[in-house]
Amino acid sequence: MAGVRDLVVREMQSADLGTRINYFHDATDEHLRMMGVDRALLPSKEVWRTRIEEDFARPIRERAGYALVWELDGCMVGFSATDQIEFGKQAFMHLHILRPEERHAGLGAEFVKLSASVFFRVLEIERLFCEPNALNVAPNRTLQRAGFRYLFSHETIPGPINFRQVTTRWVLERPG
Ligand SMILES: CC(C)(COP(=O)(O)OP(=O)(O)OC[C@H]1O[C@@H](n2cnc3c(N)ncnc32)[C@H](O)[C@@H]1OP(=O)(O)O)[C@@H](O)C(=O)NCCC(=O)NCCS
Repeated sequence: MAGVRDLVVREMQSADLGTRINYFHDATDEHLRMMGVDRALLPSKEVWRTRIEEDFARPIRERAGYALVWELDGCMVGFSATDQIEFGKQAFMHLHILRPEERHAGLGAEFVKLSASVFFRVLEIERLFCEPNALNVAPNRTLQRAGFRYLFSHETIPGPINFRQVTTRWVLERPG
């Protein structure tokens, strides 16, 4: 299915932020729990938008985050955001397909591969990490399919919107 459709990744713009933020705010408790996200830790929509817009306005080398929109046949179907960026060295990525009916159809693995090559180029990084909840099968399988290498599992609070959980860390090295 994915092979005959048009997959494009492009830089996220301010106009895409409503979709990104609503994805978390409108998510079911089950979906948030699977991703290891604590609803009580989500910034309000307004605060979150302002925070990201201020970051988008910074030069790329000074960004706290950098994000890509995933488009299928011209429509946004998902996004990938990076954080913990050490420009020229490494970053952590996150992966999301917005609607359940578009998941598990081969798109995620293809978008992750496309996104990784953009992150390597734009952020000039040597290593790209991803650290999903260990119990969340889909991203773990997807990272493996996209060529990431498993590093380790540990108990941690992986980010500011997360609860304590066991995560699995995966890495993709910059292609030689
Ligand atoms: C994670 C996500 C982006 C993966 O994209 P996707 O399009 O569903 O994944 P794909 O269809 O490309 O599948 C890639 C691999 O994962 C497996 N997979 C995907 N969803 C799965 C599921 N729910 N259960 C078991 N395996 C699953 C596929 O079988 C495939 O495995 P294979 O390499 O053995 O064939 C998507 O499922 C998603 O958005 N999930 C909700 C958000 C989320 O959990 N994000 C992670 C936060 S870090």
